[in-house]
Amino acid sequence: MADSIPITRINVPASRIRAIRSAVREVTHLGSAPDASRLATLDDAPALLAFLSDPAVHAPIYSLPRPLTEASVRAFVQEHLVQRTAGEGLLFVRGEADVILGYSDIQVWPQWAAGELGGALHPSLHHQGRGSRGAAESFAWMFEALQLDVICETASHENVPTQRMLDGLGFTRKGEVESVRPDGTARASLVWEITRSDWLRLHPN
Ligand SMILES: CC(C)(COP(=O)(O)OP(=O)(O)OC[C@H]1O[C@@H](n2cnc3c(N)ncnc32)[C@H](O)[C@@H]1OP(=O)(O)O)[C@@H](O)C(=O)NCCC(=O)NCCS
Repeated sequence: MADSIPITRINVPASRIRAIRSAVREVTHLGSAPDASRLATLDDAPALLAFLSDPAVHAPIYSLPRPLTEASVRAFVQEHLVQRTAGEGLLFVRGEADVILGYSDIQVWPQWAAGELGGALHPSLHHQGRGSRGAAESFAWMFEALQLDVICETASHENVPTQRMLDGLGFTRKGEVESVRPDGTARASLVWEITRSDWLRLHPN
């Protein structure tokens, strides 16, 4: 999502790069729970636009299209389908009927066995511990299913829930970078990282 992240860049052998790309290409759901998020398709664009249009959802997220229109959201989904084919990105949604209740945007840097998770929950579900639980499950899945060594996350200075979530899950603060939005504007982002070994030590189950 941004050239300035991840902070930790340790080159991994070609065999691992291939394995990570294959893993990204093969997954269809984020996890194995019955209600696990599924890959977004172009048909999701109208419902995804409705979900993303709330500023409580889109304002903190630098990687979303600007302006948000059905065409730009369709292009966002299409871009992720291309990234999946390359083994470098995944876009998941979850919801009921035609209503989206959450999305997850995973970027992968196979050469460094590194990844980033972005996303949001429907505002009616905020502040009940669901974001932290869902994020913890997603990070564990990224280490296991995508075979990553490090996860790098960012949040704006104003995004206190995400900051508390990342600090609470044991991520280490790594300073500040500039995140460039798709429309070329920039914002300051705080950065966190956690390695697979630290994750497994802190979250043994
Ligand atoms: C980030 C997000 C997923 C968090 O989900 P959530 O279910 O509301 O979060 P939780 O209830 O698990 O709370 C996480 C922490 O933030 C705190 N928090 C939640 N809402 C808060 C608020 N409005 N103000 C201050 N702190 C808040 C919680 O107390 C908790 O901290 P604690 O564990 O130290 O008590 C959700 O707020 C969201 O979708 N936001 C919009 C998009 C976004 O910011 N995405 C992340 C960047 S990509």
